Amino acid sequence: MHIEKNISLKPYNTFGVEAKASFFTQIENIPQLQQALDFATEHKLPVLALGGGSNILFTRDFDGLAVLLRMKGITETFVDDNHVLVTASAGENWHQFVSSCVEKNYGGLENLSLIPGNAGTAPMQNIGAYGTEIKDAFAHCKVLNTETRELETFTLEDCCFGYRDSFFKKHKGKYIILEVTFRLTTHNHHLNTEYGVIRSELAKMNITEPTIQDIAKAVISIRQSKLPDPKVTGNAGSFFKNPVIPATQFEGLKSKYPDIPGYMQHDAIKIPAGWLIEHSGWKGKQIGNVATHAHQALVIINATGNATGREIYDFSGQIIDTVRYLYGIQLEREVNII
Ligand code: EPU
Repeated sequence: MHIEKNISLKPYNTFGVEAKASFFTQIENIPQLQQALDFATEHKLPVLALGGGSNILFTRDFDGLAVLLRMKGITETFVDDNHVLVTASAGENWHQFVSSCVEKNYGGLENLSLIPGNAGTAPMQNIGAYGTEIKDAFAHCKVLNTETRELETFTLEDCCFGYRDSFFKKHKGKYIILEVTFRLTTHNHHLNTEYGVIRSELAKMNITEPTIQDIAKAVISIRQSKLPDPKVTGNAGSFFKNPVIPATQFEGLKSKYPDIPGYMQHDAIKIPAGWLIEHSGWKGKQIGNVATHAHQALVIINATGNATGREIYDFSGQIIDTVRYLYGIQLEREVNII
């Protein structure tokens, strides 16, 4: 294990903002991780585990030990004539992992194609898109408890997954996810085409009986048309969560704004934050180096490549203020703020 000092974290966050870690290390296995934690304990340093850096905004330098998780490997175990357990180490790129499953005709993750980030951070916020969340195919994950230094296994129930939420998100810093196992189908797939945009994309492709490969292709095409590629324009996907409000509040808003969309969530209503932001006049708007994406107002971008984390944070604060003022709804940031 090699510890470096005063390292730029710009290459390790998809917003591409500058921030320095006073100490930095890259780890490829559990013994190296244990050594890194020993170093942090010895020097009384806080630890920040970094995966793909696709859901993080640095607003300041990190005065501690940043640990880049680079454990690699994918293994599989067949469980019955229609199921396989596939395990990805934390440092595996999420999209490459999903693509490898789709290529082998393992079903369950195809709707989650092209989501930036690594496998190890997927459970943190129960990543989701186009009607699927990882909880739908999740079997278990192996984690390191940073307080006891013990390895633990978390089942689906243990993870307490919710919308962009998990047990790990509520106990930030306590656990480092080492590998994640999914239960996928090998031939009798359950296809999820409930999302209107997927159905229309498949129709455009002239596909009436889709395979999981077709669904992956459709999802990739939709994402490429709506969302900015972080390799080209710095961003962290959706910056805010979609707010969930009581039905009575929604009815009040509906009478004032008849076009406002809302989706039933048990006995409450989920409203697309993208709609609220667009109808607050923020879609495509740029202030200094920061803007919202022209095709999806929920995504904040580092428009010039020169934005600071503080600028992005302040920009997001202005959006929150306008939406609260106009609609009485408090937007919550989905991205982790450091
Ligand atoms: N909308 C607008 N204007 C916009 C954007 C959206 O009016 O600029 C409205 C439209 O009514 C649209 C609706 O919002 O029909 C939903 O938009 P979209 O399908 O793009 O989905 P979203 O709710 O904005 C969520 C996830 C995305 C995920 C998509 C597709 C969250 C916070 N975001 O976005 O996840 O890809 O659904 O399932 O739940 C991410 O988490 O980084 C992410 C990209």
